Amino acid sequence: MPIFMPQGGLVDHSGTGPTPLRSVSSAAVTKVESQPGTLKDQDAEVAAWLQREDKRQSTTLTLIASENHSSPAVRETGQSRITDKYAEGYPSRRYYGGCEVADSIEDLARTRAKTLFKAEAANVQPHSGTTANMSALLALAGPGGRIVGMSLKDGGHLTHGHPRSHTGMVFEAKQYGVGADGRIDMDQVRSLVKEHKPHVLIAGGSAYTRNIDYVAFAAIAKESDAFLMADIAHPAGLIAAGVVPSPVGIADVVTMTTHKTLRGPRGGMILSQEAVAKKIDSSVFPGAQGGPLVQQIAGKAVAFGEALRPEFRAYQVRVKANAAHLAEHLASEGLKIVSGGTDNHIVLVDLQGTDVTGADVEERALTAGLAVNKNAVPNDPRPPLVTSGLRLGTAAVTTRGFGTAEIDRLADIIIGLVRGEDPERYRSIVLELCEAYPLP
Ligand SMILES: Cc1ncc(COP(=O)(O)O)c(C=O)c1O
Repeated sequence: MPIFMPQGGLVDHSGTGPTPLRSVSSAAVTKVESQPGTLKDQDAEVAAWLQREDKRQSTTLTLIASENHSSPAVRETGQSRITDKYAEGYPSRRYYGGCEVADSIEDLARTRAKTLFKAEAANVQPHSGTTANMSALLALAGPGGRIVGMSLKDGGHLTHGHPRSHTGMVFEAKQYGVGADGRIDMDQVRSLVKEHKPHVLIAGGSAYTRNIDYVAFAAIAKESDAFLMADIAHPAGLIAAGVVPSPVGIADVVTMTTHKTLRGPRGGMILSQEAVAKKIDSSVFPGAQGGPLVQQIAGKAVAFGEALRPEFRAYQVRVKANAAHLAEHLASEGLKIVSGGTDNHIVLVDLQGTDVTGADVEERALTAGLAVNKNAVPNDPRPPLVTSGLRLGTAAVTTRGFGTAEIDRLADIIIGLVRGEDPERYRSIVLELCEAYPLP
């Protein structure tokens, strides 16, 4: 039966059956590798869209705090034939044959993750931060269990118990927030935990700019016999580099995405203490997912390898210094910064008291060539698609090579946009910076 139509014609696999790896001749390997046409030849429409995205990224400066630019090596893994492989289960315990390579890749990724974060156990299979959180919460709280997390409007994440997320539907969720100083209200956390008696207390957020006191969270969780889950999706890279405090060894479970400050491929990961590792594994598979994305796991292994090098620590030091500099510069021009500054890669600007909304500035910034995102600020009176805030992150521009001098130029543009200057006048400055600091 003809199964593929490459440039050179049909390939007929009828009756050949599976060929053992050992007996494939080098000629056959060469033939297989030369089969497919390029994407451009085969599907010009998709190729054109992807080319356009390349252009968009190379001519835009990304200040979206949840994004970064992964290395060519990380991206190359996504193109591997291993994308075609089913590998349900875990290394040496798979439900499919032919998983020897997948086993080695996953073992390597797990070992590197454990070394990088000094963790007892790692599950590298979650397809995303959302499935990592869902899996961890199901393992620790069980369906219908009780959870306590930070509310989205105060800087938490949807998966920490928001009513529109499965975590708010499957679990009985209560939410804490930040005080007038923009920092987590630990008294509220303590009283909510005492009253609600959650199975899991969650520490972490998406728009939270301050270090989290994981020791204090762990003490509160312990008083009520709750598990502590730290979601470090945002600061994972800073934590891996030792630039901000780590919850590993303090929290029972640590979840994250691998594509933000960690600069890996899109995906999730769960670190845990040995005592709960088995529960976590079976909650990811077969609990929440089927076959793992082995090409993404290969990318995670590459990214963890990169993060183990000294250059990665130097990069994270710059990410943090750039964010602190950005916050100071914006504040010196009169913009209000939630919590008064930042300890990580995020700067949250409170636009209340100006003439503009988060949505206005996001749109103007795009015209200038800056990708930023509108974001709710604590006690935001505006709806989520408008907001009174702007979330800025320095991970992506620091990957391009930005230092504080370039951050100053960016800060001036943002101030101009908030004050209503024509965004078009900044386009050439942004393009000049893009050219001087190309994508990896
Ligand atoms: C704190 C936090 N947890 C979880 C997630 C979810 O990750 P994903 O988008 O990969 O599902 C995010 C995403 O931004 C996040 O910021």
